[in-house]
Amino acid sequence: MAVAVAPDILPLRALTPPAWAEIVLQDPVALLIDHAFLEKKAATNALDLLTLWPEEFFPEWAQVMTAVARDEAAHLAQVTRILLRRGGRLARVHKNPYANALRLLVRKGTAGEVLDRLLISAIIELRSCERFSVLAAHCTDEELAVFYRRLFASEKGHFQVFLKLANAIAPKGRADDRWNTLLDAEARILAQQELGPRIHSGCPA
Ligand SMILES: [Fe+2]
Ligand SMILES: [Fe+2]
Repeated sequence: MAVAVAPDILPLRALTPPAWAEIVLQDPVALLIDHAFLEKKAATNALDLLTLWPEEFFPEWAQVMTAVARDEAAHLAQVTRILLRRGGRLARVHKNPYANALRLLVRKGTAGEVLDRLLISAIIELRSCERFSVLAAHCTDEELAVFYRRLFASEKGHFQVFLKLANAIAPKGRADDRWNTLLDAEARILAQQELGPRIHSGCPA
């Protein structure tokens, strides 16, 4: 299987080993169920952010958030279609302790809240795109490999656009400092996750 991407160019503190993909791909339907919820959450996150714009960034802000929401809704439709064809169905309840832990780092009610929400959104997109690259490279199921490769490119674009907006709304040094702090935290949070068929699960020891 050709490796279509180079995850080492991504600014993550810790990269995912191939052994993670080998384990999570043992239950592709469970992985698709988890994945569908992540796409749904990504769409609603963009719509939530739509209402938080700093005045000087409208209408660019609205264009970015509606475009991301549209992409994520399309991803949700694609993953759901594959899931249903393979005999799976969406679960009613879903937990993502990784994303929940990251969102707890948002400094709510302060001047840094919007910056944090953009940076956390960028980090979740960044990790997702890295995970899709690892899945694409190690998946022997051609349909899923192609799907994951396409998602890598799309989620990478979302990561870049959230980071660009974060750097636009905050002074350079402040955005960089917070970005580095949150990237360090992300690596710690990921290391605390349990292994399992989820996009944001922990890695084998
Ligand atoms: Fe997506
Ligand atoms: Fe995305």
